[in-house]
Amino acid sequence: MLDQPPLSNVQTRDIESLVHPYTPIHKLGTTGTVVMERGKGIYVYDTRGRGYIEGMSGLWCTGLGFADEELIEAAVEQLRSLPSYHLFGAKSTEPAIELAEKLKEIAPVPISKVFFTSSGSEANDTQVKLAWYLNNALGRPKKKKIISRMRGYHGVTIMAASLTGLAANHNGFDLPVDRVLHTLCPHQYRLGEEGESEAEFTARLARSLRELIEREGPDTIAAMIAEPVMGAGGVIVPPNGYFEAIQAVLDEYDIMLIGDEVITGFGRTGNWWGAQTLGMRPTTISAAKQLTSAYAPLGAVMVPDKVYQAYVDQSAALGSFAHGFTYGGHPLSCALGVKAIEIYQRRDIVGCVRQLIPLFEQRMKRIGEHPLVGEARFCGLVGGAELVADKRTKRSFDPKKGVGATASRLIEENGAILRALGDTIAICPPMIISEAELNELFDRFENGLNEAEAWVAKEGLRAA
Ligand SMILES: Cc1ncc(COP(=O)(O)O)c(C=O)c1O
Repeated sequence: MLDQPPLSNVQTRDIESLVHPYTPIHKLGTTGTVVMERGKGIYVYDTRGRGYIEGMSGLWCTGLGFADEELIEAAVEQLRSLPSYHLFGAKSTEPAIELAEKLKEIAPVPISKVFFTSSGSEANDTQVKLAWYLNNALGRPKKKKIISRMRGYHGVTIMAASLTGLAANHNGFDLPVDRVLHTLCPHQYRLGEEGESEAEFTARLARSLRELIEREGPDTIAAMIAEPVMGAGGVIVPPNGYFEAIQAVLDEYDIMLIGDEVITGFGRTGNWWGAQTLGMRPTTISAAKQLTSAYAPLGAVMVPDKVYQAYVDQSAALGSFAHGFTYGGHPLSCALGVKAIEIYQRRDIVGCVRQLIPLFEQRMKRIGEHPLVGEARFCGLVGGAELVADKRTKRSFDPKKGVGATASRLIEENGAILRALGDTIAICPPMIISEAELNELFDRFENGLNEAEAWVAKEGLRAA
């Protein structure tokens, strides 16, 4: 165990009043929380006055860093003119219209309409409802199941959590619900067979998808959902040719592909969209997070015209398009989305990311050489380092030992916030980071890993 300072007053108030998401809340009384007070650029500062490089952009979302004056001004201006309104019952607002227009302009595939939500989970939930709505409109009432992937992450509402392929999101919550099927995760390090080439692994994944579809019946399957690069499942970058192979199968059976770009949208992978980096051709797209650089909550579902026309037909048949969230398309969020996209374009954020990628890759490869790290995975400015007990055999640590969680705490004590996804340490820095700052972030990452290595050795955690 690591030493814990006594809890401060604000930490005690926190524990006495908040339910913390994704936290071992049974341990909070001893671990305490870190209460953040302010942020500037790539840094955040806690109530004890300690500064950290926010190496995860918060939750993969604050791509433009903290306290960006242009975003703040756009928010204030919007709050002054129209602080709140909605899009229900044919009402609208200029920021929502403008943001939808911008998204159509930059989308990686032809998009005709945008539906706004307040989060990525709501966007993915909406995707499923709309896939069902679409197939009812098209007279295919049986075509309703959704395929997702083991270790995929799509959020926490009932359907989004069901799509998520992580046991932690199902256990104890009575999930997944019906109509959800999980196919193989494209992670060769863990799932590749002895002597299997990348192309053979990809072909096996496509074959397995085909078998699943045949077994279930193609006329029962509406869509498959996939992140271009899996984030919360451990930063898993699919093998070359993966999406081409998967899409050929989906096309054959008339199954839509929903691109979950909630993390990968807006420059993260070195293109505007992860789909462009990974050779993915989604039918519809979910976006959120960097859409507003997370300065206000917003999600979006983007659909092509032939899909939208089916909603129009359903609306005509049923009397109305009866779906919507009070805050979906909130003018504050949309004004921030418009400004964020304008900044991404004007400051050429995609170009900035591309310039940083060689350094990011070089430092990730060095992380991969660390004695604790079995595999270092990366794509654009997002990476993951999987910690293992034995580099040669890839043997994992006993999950109960919490090696990832301890490593991320030690990294935090070195002044960098990264995120433990089980025993994978994720890194996803603000896209405005400089080369010097990126080197500093990786130095802190390495220092924390060295301390974690010493702790693992001292505790004898490598024992099989
Ligand atoms: C790929 C992906 N989809 C969906 C979500 C859910 O988004 P939210 O937390 O805004 O509901 C996340 C969140 O991390 C995500 O990474």
